[in-house]
Amino acid sequence: MTKPSPARVPRRRTAARRDHSKIKTFRWTGTSLFILEQRALPHKTRYIPCRTHRDVARCIKDMAVRGAPAIGCVAAYGLALAARERNFRSVERLVAHLEKARVVLGATRPTAVNLFWALNRMQRLWGTSPLSPKGPKGLEAALAKEAVAIHREDLAACRRMGELGAKLLPKNAVVLTHCNAGALATAGYGTALGMVRAAFAQGKIKKVFVDETRPYLQGARLTAWEMHQEGIPYEVITDNMAGHLMKTEKISAVIVGADRIAANGDAANKIGTYSLSILAKHHKIPFYVVAPFSTVDMSMPTGQGIPIEERSTREVVFVGPTQIAPKGAKARHPGFDVTPAAHIAAIVTDRGVVRPVSAKNLARVAKSK
Ligand code: MRU
Repeated sequence: MTKPSPARVPRRRTAARRDHSKIKTFRWTGTSLFILEQRALPHKTRYIPCRTHRDVARCIKDMAVRGAPAIGCVAAYGLALAARERNFRSVERLVAHLEKARVVLGATRPTAVNLFWALNRMQRLWGTSPLSPKGPKGLEAALAKEAVAIHREDLAACRRMGELGAKLLPKNAVVLTHCNAGALATAGYGTALGMVRAAFAQGKIKKVFVDETRPYLQGARLTAWEMHQEGIPYEVITDNMAGHLMKTEKISAVIVGADRIAANGDAANKIGTYSLSILAKHHKIPFYVVAPFSTVDMSMPTGQGIPIEERSTREVVFVGPTQIAPKGAKARHPGFDVTPAAHIAAIVTDRGVVRPVSAKNLARVAKSK
């Protein structure tokens, strides 16, 4: 992969035109994709230039870019890049290469369904016969256009979810969020944090409790950074403080994103979300999941079938460069867990709010495109 570069990213206003957030998770120039190196945040802001689909796949696998919708968007750009990697003499040759690239990109992270959703949507451009009548260059252009459309639609979806979600919150809301479901996890603006941003703009947010989100610390590193940039009042807490705060402070809502939502409303999200949902249920605090429809997997009847990514145990026994457990300590690292639909007060999607959460209501909202 091309080395991370602190070099400035060309300021071309393409897909991100309608996004007013200061944070650009990734930027497409028409020939390259620049991915914000999230592992360096909050201390350094630098971009990784990606010129091939393999560059993009590595960024996804190694978590330089993360968050379900963002993964889907960059994977789509990965296929747009794949089409430019050689001078393909026929559409058939280009398609053979794209199929291989699709496998490489699809093998990066298993839980976020947005990845497969985006790859499948891109594949429709070459999977239909007759093959592109405009030759390899025509297909290359169509792939880039589709990736930009996915990028734009995700931004628009986040804005819409923000609008819809903000209505669910009372004035002076104190909310608790887990992981990072913000601009950094999407094409911009965010899902759970999009709802927070929209509510803040309406003067409704008093404070956000930010779970640090062990072991990868997406909350402490990324969500806190986003809140700071926006001037939204927040406090970082360690994950084990959530119960105490729910008991002793007035928390209006728990708001999280999702990596995959099954047809019955069960929602996979960052490890720790399930425990939070139980705490919220016990304390009668509404628990909201905010996700675009690209996160809903109607082919998965319940959350039981959702594949859970097992990540490196090094991330558990180390904090940064420091080993905190004895050398040779055994550890586990499931990256996600599944919150049952019964614990979720509402799922806020770009097509509408699903409330109460049930297979029937999710199917109804799915149709209201
Ligand atoms: O492992 P990550 O950082 O990719 O996990 C991200 C999450 O769990 C987010 O909450 C989820 O993708 C929703 S992002 C809008």
